[in-house]
Amino acid sequence: MAFAEVSTGIISEFEAIVGEQNVVIDPEKRYDYSHDETEDYSFLPDVVLKPGSAEEISRILKLCNQHLIPVTPRGGGTGLSGGALPINKGVVISMERFNKILNIDELNLQATVEPGVITEIFQNAVKEKGLFYPPDPASRGTCFIGGNVSENSGGPKAVKYGVTRDYVLNLEVVLPTGEIIWTGANVLKNSTGYNLTQLMCGSEGTLGIITKIVFKLRGLPQKSVTLLMPFVTNEEACKAIAEIFRAGVQPSGMEFFEREAAMKTIDYCEKIYAAKVTTQFPENMDAYLLCELDGNDDEVLMRDAERVMTVVEQFQVGEILFADTASQKEELWKIRKNISPAVNAYSLTKSEDVVVPRANLPKLIVGIKEIGKQFGFNSVCYGHLGDGNLHVNVMKEQISNEDWDTKVVDGIGEIFKLTVSLGGTLSGEHGIGIAKKPYMPIAMGEANLMVMRGIKKAFDPNGILNPGKIF
Ligand code: LAC
Ligand code: ZN
Repeated sequence: MAFAEVSTGIISEFEAIVGEQNVVIDPEKRYDYSHDETEDYSFLPDVVLKPGSAEEISRILKLCNQHLIPVTPRGGGTGLSGGALPINKGVVISMERFNKILNIDELNLQATVEPGVITEIFQNAVKEKGLFYPPDPASRGTCFIGGNVSENSGGPKAVKYGVTRDYVLNLEVVLPTGEIIWTGANVLKNSTGYNLTQLMCGSEGTLGIITKIVFKLRGLPQKSVTLLMPFVTNEEACKAIAEIFRAGVQPSGMEFFEREAAMKTIDYCEKIYAAKVTTQFPENMDAYLLCELDGNDDEVLMRDAERVMTVVEQFQVGEILFADTASQKEELWKIRKNISPAVNAYSLTKSEDVVVPRANLPKLIVGIKEIGKQFGFNSVCYGHLGDGNLHVNVMKEQISNEDWDTKVVDGIGEIFKLTVSLGGTLSGEHGIGIAKKPYMPIAMGEANLMVMRGIKKAFDPNGILNPGKIF
């Protein structure tokens, strides 16, 4: 696709739409919009626009569609697959001015928000009213909720409460051709035609620009307990997971991390928070499960915690830490949520997000380590294993640039092939973007890709919106 340049004439038209102060041309300021949290990728846009309404976005898209200028929508810039990077230059539309919670409907347990609201701010706003918005990505303090919808983010609570898409009832969307639509209705059931709302969720900004989101909410669980369970090997930890669910317990978090992830994160946290970590991670234990149980009844929680402990005792488990004070729980979750930034601060990484049926996790983890040995890389593994969703951070460390771009890429292809052979797929929550795009044929047949291309064409006949992503 031959895209047009952003001429000075077009810049003047953008200024007339969004106001001069919302058009960023200065290269240094534009640089901030050239990267996200994916490897060391950087693509400088020609111009960044900060519109303030759906109508302004509609006028921008009509103009760009007419002139064939590529447009990349961007949220908080915390993406891990490069979905918001302007790989064809052109325009970045930053959603940062869409930062209002428009309505919290306590009677219907719904909320309407703009996509540039930071996820944690939204969670806290509904919490103040005794309500609960469960999706809880590790980046919640800086990511935009619109980005969560576009990537279908998950996080630790997904294992009990579902992922972002499970909370989206209705979306206001500006189509690439400029029409403004609502995709559905603010209702809990809907069998009215194709489900455009769900099609938008996880579409990585390729089908339209979301300008309002209607979420459903839940009542806030009042109590929780957290267990930290050390295992002798990561395979043993993985084996225990499926058994915990088989015992009929439904944890609200079932996270896994290798000892190396914990060690790197403790160093990192002690530096950035300037406070000593008090939790002990015994040396002879290679892997940890962090299990949270939540609810409203202490007795039920204790009974479930005992069931979990009885199950894991069949495996090679060490001494279990039962955290029931707020500060202990907070420290454990702080460590867990900082693994990704800690590992990335230590070395450049390629960060994978594979997902398999739970009972296949032991084969996956053993296979990944074998592939690492064969292709010469070390990996730090952690993730939401209650969902079968494993993050594999492949470390660059001393690997040469050439091997990093060839041998390691082939090795990651092997990890994806293994994942698919175990009934899994490429991404559980980070999306495909550009980072996983070359691997799509491993998971999707040509017929699937044809249907996806057809859907893209129906929304975006000229292919101007976030081109070059997913497939
Ligand atoms: C996490 C992010 C990387 O689980 O998804 O920490
Ligand atoms: Zn994650």
